[in-house]
Amino acid sequence: MGFAISQSSMNDQAPQPSAGRNGTLAIRFTLNGREVAIAVDPTERLLDTLRYRLNLPGSKEGCGEGECGACTVIIDDLPANSCLVPTFQVRGCNVRTIESIPPSSLQPMLESGATQCGACTPGVVVTANWIKEHSGVLASHTMRALMAGNLCRCTGYDGIIDGLENWIGTPRGGRP
Ligand code: FES
Ligand code: FES
Repeated sequence: MGFAISQSSMNDQAPQPSAGRNGTLAIRFTLNGREVAIAVDPTERLLDTLRYRLNLPGSKEGCGEGECGACTVIIDDLPANSCLVPTFQVRGCNVRTIESIPPSSLQPMLESGATQCGACTPGVVVTANWIKEHSGVLASHTMRALMAGNLCRCTGYDGIIDGLENWIGTPRGGRP
């Protein structure tokens, strides 16, 4: 996706987690404002940790290979595809998921017809919320360009861009 952070950039300076006897890694990180302590297999994906171990199923799996953005979360204030991030790499990080965003934020999307099957919607809203929090990026990028990492097979994107413009309040969709 457009803003996916490089995995190698995460916690380069952080101490390496210690391996347990069964090969798991004990890590701590902040998740939606709360500290989480968990032991993870080195190959465990953040998307799976969130959905199946931490009871946060809002992040969706579409492609599972970093192409669709359905699994978008915020890691240390940057959007990232959680299907590509080994969970141990978020040790010490601040992670936010769709569950941290008030449901009322979805209203402009519903009114503009931005959701059909809804599979892409959590990732779209997470990225859009990040744009809302960093609205200065709209001075140099169109909304459409900023949303390029979030694919939708249903809407044709106009409804999504209209909904985001209404939510964020900045008509910078860059529609051709
Ligand atoms: S499921 Fe992660 S980018 Fe598609
Ligand atoms: S609403 Fe179906 S993929 Fe976007």
